[in-house]
Amino acid sequence: MKILLVGSGGREHALALGLQADSACTELHCAPGNPGTSQIATNHLVAVTDNTAIVELAKNLSVDLVVIGPEVPLVNGVADLLRAAGITTFGPSKAAAQLEGSKHFAKGVMRDAGVPTSRSFTCENQEEIESALDAFGAPYVVKDDGLAAGKGVVVTDDRAIALAHALSCKRVVIEEYLNGPEISLFGISDGRNILPMQPAQDFKRAYDFDEGPNTGGMGAYSPLPWAPDDIVDETYEKVLAPMIAEMSARGTPFVGLLYAGLALTDHGLRVIEFNARFGDPETQVLIPRLKTPLATLLYKAATDSLDDVALEWRDESAVTVVLAAPGYPDAPQVNGAITKIPVIADTQIFHAGTTQSGDALVSAGGRVMTITGLGEDLTQARDRAYRAISQIELSGSFYRSDIALNASVAEKGN
Ligand code: AMP
Ligand code: GLY
Repeated sequence: MKILLVGSGGREHALALGLQADSACTELHCAPGNPGTSQIATNHLVAVTDNTAIVELAKNLSVDLVVIGPEVPLVNGVADLLRAAGITTFGPSKAAAQLEGSKHFAKGVMRDAGVPTSRSFTCENQEEIESALDAFGAPYVVKDDGLAAGKGVVVTDDRAIALAHALSCKRVVIEEYLNGPEISLFGISDGRNILPMQPAQDFKRAYDFDEGPNTGGMGAYSPLPWAPDDIVDETYEKVLAPMIAEMSARGTPFVGLLYAGLALTDHGLRVIEFNARFGDPETQVLIPRLKTPLATLLYKAATDSLDDVALEWRDESAVTVVLAAPGYPDAPQVNGAITKIPVIADTQIFHAGTTQSGDALVSAGGRVMTITGLGEDLTQARDRAYRAISQIELSGSFYRSDIALNASVAEKGN
């Protein structure tokens, strides 16, 4: 099977390794990929925003499967164009990707499907905004309705900040604050069936102990030793299966990866958000743990054939830590030379914001690399990830030192 993978981040490097490890994958191409994927696949200089170029490339290569990594091409409808060209595609249609592309849309589907989430108002003018803010009170949760590259959500006790953010959005969803630990739980769907993956947790703030600005994610781990034993079954029954059934009933089946961001509140689980693609950096811990051959799995999802498939997992724990460029997330400095990339057993280094400049590898984005450690438990996985990341040299770069720390302590107490 010839596969084209669209995207260029750490998530795509992890997916590329997973796809390539499946003997069913005979040829792997990336658009555009990164210096990491270039070691295991053929990279093609195509922008993820260029639908026409992606379809042309898939046609020219005569691929058997296209896997779309990031949300932008999905929301732009690249999956529809690929399918119209007769190309098997893993990734939702433009209509189904609205689960990520519009918070208002996602709330409506959840309401119709009976999926637990916070109460919310969608507002389009100041009067509606102010009355929604006052209806819920602090902490205020204000979400840009559309895609905002991780900058759309503001959670604050300060009403003036909440109001200013709301007014800066064209359409805004204001919702009740949810209290409780957050987890990410993904499901792989063929449009009728959805196979839940293992839960993971990511760390969204830039600095240790959840200080600092929100980021795309600074690290993740899986499994979650502290989570309720039935969390996967409960999420499947209350969230994933009803969402897939509702999307199918609407005539817009969801084929791809449905990412549920959940809060485990005192009143039970609640959906915080959906994404229409693999999460980053959760993918960098889930794919190394997944035993089921990935290329075959995604091909089956893309061809409505998941009826008899069950996911299998390795016993190992995984911890991933993001190496961030100086200034990330506000103003990341690029073009820094990355020297010394260690080779350590049971670790994997995923490229994200890197580029090749002559013979040198240099930084090209805020999240430069993700380093995953695998081990018997989270403690061992952490030790390995941190041993590797501490040896990478990139001037001014930083990483959080507390990824999976509490969970590894909790695990010892079990
Ligand atoms: P989102 O992009 O919807 O995942 O929001 C980004 C982050 O904002 C989430 O990971 C949460 O930490 C926080 N957040 C979003 N919605 C809520 C909510 N209703 N209550 C509390 N925190 C929230
Ligand atoms: N880990 C957060 C995201 O992928 O959106």
